[in-house]
Amino acid sequence: MSAIQVHGLNKTFNEKKALTNIQLSIEPGEMVALIGASGSGKSTLIRHIGGLIHSDKNDSEIKVLGQVMQKNGKLGSNVRKIRSEVGVVFQQFNLVNRLSVLTNVLMGYLGQIPSWRGTLGLFTHAEKKRAMDALHRVGIDKLALQRSSTLSGGQQQRAAIARTITQGAKVILADEPIASLDPSSSRKVMDTLERVNLEDKVTVLVSLHQVDYAMQYCPRTIAMRDGEIVFDGNSESLTPDFLKQLYGDHSLELYGNNKQEKPAGNYTQKDAAALASV
Ligand SMILES: Nc1ncnc2c1ncn2[C@@H]1O[C@H](COP(=O)(O)OP(=O)(O)OP(=O)(O)O)[C@@H](O)[C@H]1O
Ligand SMILES: [Mg+2]
Repeated sequence: MSAIQVHGLNKTFNEKKALTNIQLSIEPGEMVALIGASGSGKSTLIRHIGGLIHSDKNDSEIKVLGQVMQKNGKLGSNVRKIRSEVGVVFQQFNLVNRLSVLTNVLMGYLGQIPSWRGTLGLFTHAEKKRAMDALHRVGIDKLALQRSSTLSGGQQQRAAIARTITQGAKVILADEPIASLDPSSSRKVMDTLERVNLEDKVTVLVSLHQVDYAMQYCPRTIAMRDGEIVFDGNSESLTPDFLKQLYGDHSLELYGNNKQEKPAGNYTQKDAAALASV
């Protein structure tokens, strides 16, 4: 059983094709980078896999952990259950700012406990201990009781990863989790994702603007251009020539260790709320 399987996925926004006949299959335990220039369709693909948007109504299917997330443009009947096994880390809006870091991590349990307990914030001692263990694993247990808004960008991303640990996620979808971070914080976030991948065998699909991070952390890379997959294979076989083609004039910057300032992407608080309601 594949962790993620996409077949014949097409998406059109206002008559503009954003994804064309996407086919891919990711096996359990893989850590895969998704790269491509701005507008190539990375976020749109990730949002489909996470069940956040519907595809066009053609003959398509997205399965996550062997279960139908969507088929022919309709979400599967099991979406809530599948989402409870999929951790999502956005570029931002991952945490509820006014709540403590620990409370945000405890939200990972919401799909697993009776909703009245979650609503009232009634977590057991064992659940709190496991949440603290998750924070320890990502290296920010000392910040557990701080308001989330006081954390740095990189610490917030690591808290979001800790939440996927308490969630017991078997798949993590991370859409540019390091896009607005400095190199040292980026490294810590990528190290954390790598550790969860290697130690817990969690499947990770991570979109990245920095190709050097993709090559360093992900054995496999999927590259997109204009809504199509133009490369899917061993990251080591990505060549400077190919990357130059992929990114046009920006390739040299991207191939180095430069941080790119980019807009916030198209996730919204509404997406975060939809996921938090799992
Ligand atoms: N909600 C939307 N409505 C209309 N068009 C959209 C919407 N979301 C994405 N698009 C379009 O789909 C295409 C792919 O966008 P997408 O956000 O997936 O690209 P991306 O690879 O994630 O880019 P970036 O690197 O800038 O995050 C773009 O042309 C974009 O304008
Ligand atoms: Mg994007």
